[in-house]
Amino acid sequence: MAASDQIKSLIKSFGESDEDRFFASAMQIAASEARRGHNNIAQELKSLIETARKSRSNLQFDQGKIVNMPPSRRELNELVEVFQPRISLSNMVLEKSILNKLSKLISEQKKWELLRHHNLFPIRKLLLIGAPGTGKTMTAHAIAGELDIPVFVIRLDGILSKYMGESIAKLRLIFDMMPSQRAVYLFDEFDSIGSHRNQGHDVGEIKRILNSFLVNIEKDISNSIIIAATNLPESLDVALFRRFDDVIKYPLPIESEIIVAIKKYTQSYSFDTRINYKTIAKGAKGLNFSDIAKACETVVKEKILSGSQKLNTSLLIDTLNSKKS
Ligand SMILES: Nc1ncnc2c1ncn2[C@@H]1O[C@H](COP(=O)(O)OP(=O)(O)OP(=O)(O)O)[C@@H](O)[C@H]1O
Ligand SMILES: [Mg+2]
Repeated sequence: MAASDQIKSLIKSFGESDEDRFFASAMQIAASEARRGHNNIAQELKSLIETARKSRSNLQFDQGKIVNMPPSRRELNELVEVFQPRISLSNMVLEKSILNKLSKLISEQKKWELLRHHNLFPIRKLLLIGAPGTGKTMTAHAIAGELDIPVFVIRLDGILSKYMGESIAKLRLIFDMMPSQRAVYLFDEFDSIGSHRNQGHDVGEIKRILNSFLVNIEKDISNSIIIAATNLPESLDVALFRRFDDVIKYPLPIESEIIVAIKKYTQSYSFDTRINYKTIAKGAKGLNFSDIAKACETVVKEKILSGSQKLNTSLLIDTLNSKKS
């Protein structure tokens, strides 16, 4: 028998999801058994630990931050990517009305228990619509960052192409996870359901998957947040729109937002010549935030690699121009 302290530590680390301590405690038990001369049981424990450790190291990655999928949900590994974002809404440039809506969601979510106590639900189902690079995916990550919960990005393409016959069951698995695993569930590129209608798949099947989504989202009373994002809203079934608490439209940045974005992306540096933000923003009108971020990144990289003290203003203008063509 292993010492009761070791068993206590094992249970405690399991309760606290402290994987390292869990395996360390398990190894201690194996070592105690070996010291007692129980070599077979010690060997068996070690091999059990090794197998468990291997399957636990099936990790998901996001910009350096890694999150484990719980072992009981391994079957979702192909359908869900797990991120633990560290960004917040303050990292974004957002139109006031959008910022207000998102801030409201966050403040309601922070007090979801209080609202539930009064039989009310916090805002938790959003449909985000907008051109590429306007911040839809980033919003899901920022909300998760603000609430310190993970983002589960659902690979709709995976559901549709790989598990055509089982799609509805897979979708159900994802919705079933929502009450016990609080997270932002991001159905990114949600139009893939719509666009698949025209790509030789069985129209009836797609319709059934969409209906299943509608039923699931309507039934959901979890404290998770569901976000669907698309840049092709016209391909979405109209029945979808009213299933969300809010539909938020993300426009391309206006000139004042372009200026704020450039300042944000280059905030740790200064430019080599006096920079006329207004003229630059006028020239960059029509670009999305992603293009602007990438142009700023090019200029920052050039500064670092060339060893110069300041950012090259003309390079910024040229790079932004090149993105317009
Ligand atoms: N509102 C924003 N404020 C600041 N930066 C932004 C904003 N929107 C986008 N960006 C920048 O652009 C990058 C890409 O944005 P994001 O992935 O959120 O776009 P998206 O709207 O999801 O596009 P797509 O439709 O192609 O999926 C971000 O990582 C960030 O650098
Ligand atoms: Mg996106």
